[in-house]
Amino acid sequence: MGRQFAAQATDSAYNAYTERPAMLGPAGDVTGRHVLDLGCGAGHLAAALRERGAARIVGVDGSQSLLDAAGERLGDGAALHRHDLEEPLHFLADASFDLVVAGLVHHHLLARAQLLSAIRRVLLPGGTLLVSTTHPTDDRVHFGGSSFAEERVELPFGDGFALVPGRMTPETFPCELLGAGFVLEELREPRATEEARHTEPRRYDKTHHLPVFLCVRLRRP
Ligand SMILES: C[S@@+](CC[C@H](N)C(=O)[O-])C[C@H]1O[C@@H](n2cnc3c(N)ncnc32)[C@H](O)[C@@H]1O
Repeated sequence: MGRQFAAQATDSAYNAYTERPAMLGPAGDVTGRHVLDLGCGAGHLAAALRERGAARIVGVDGSQSLLDAAGERLGDGAALHRHDLEEPLHFLADASFDLVVAGLVHHHLLARAQLLSAIRRVLLPGGTLLVSTTHPTDDRVHFGGSSFAEERVELPFGDGFALVPGRMTPETFPCELLGAGFVLEELREPRATEEARHTEPRRYDKTHHLPVFLCVRLRRP
């Protein structure tokens, strides 16, 4: 499953042409920036940030197969760590990053409060946090049941790592981020870009009728 995700993240309507542009735009000018990519997966976002001039990239993920793919993609251009994000981030120094990105990993985690406090610690004052998650509206379609349910489903990843997507209500997601002391600067419900219109017309249309992701930019005061 890890390899399958790595391949589809390259050019799929949802990952490449909906969620990723909604992270890259709000990242702004990253020239010379020190970037931490939490849940870096196969390194697609990190690679795009490096292409845009980021000086230092540190990637963290729990899946060895995805980290291997990230290593192939990023070469020597990033320091990659296998680490369970449910555990503390002691190996990262205080105030050592300008930008932290967490693309589509937040809803897999239970220890979100602990992680947000660690992100606050490792970000420089004034630094930026970008978080994306699945949209509660689409979760409702996907999981059914109550919009207030926050259930989790275990998906074995094939390398000893299990991916556990859960759902959050529209109240839980921003309130947790604000409660951790971040300031909300931008919120997007991204629609697929034109590249996806011909390659995956059904998904392109879906994102233009039903929000699939929520992406936020926050500032560490
Ligand atoms: C949907 S993928 C997104 C990957 C990447 N951010 C991207 O957008 O292409 C979710 C990622 O979160 C990672 N992940 C999920 N739970 C994790 C955990 N507890 N610790 C570390 N990584 C985790 C998975 O291995 C996977 O790489």
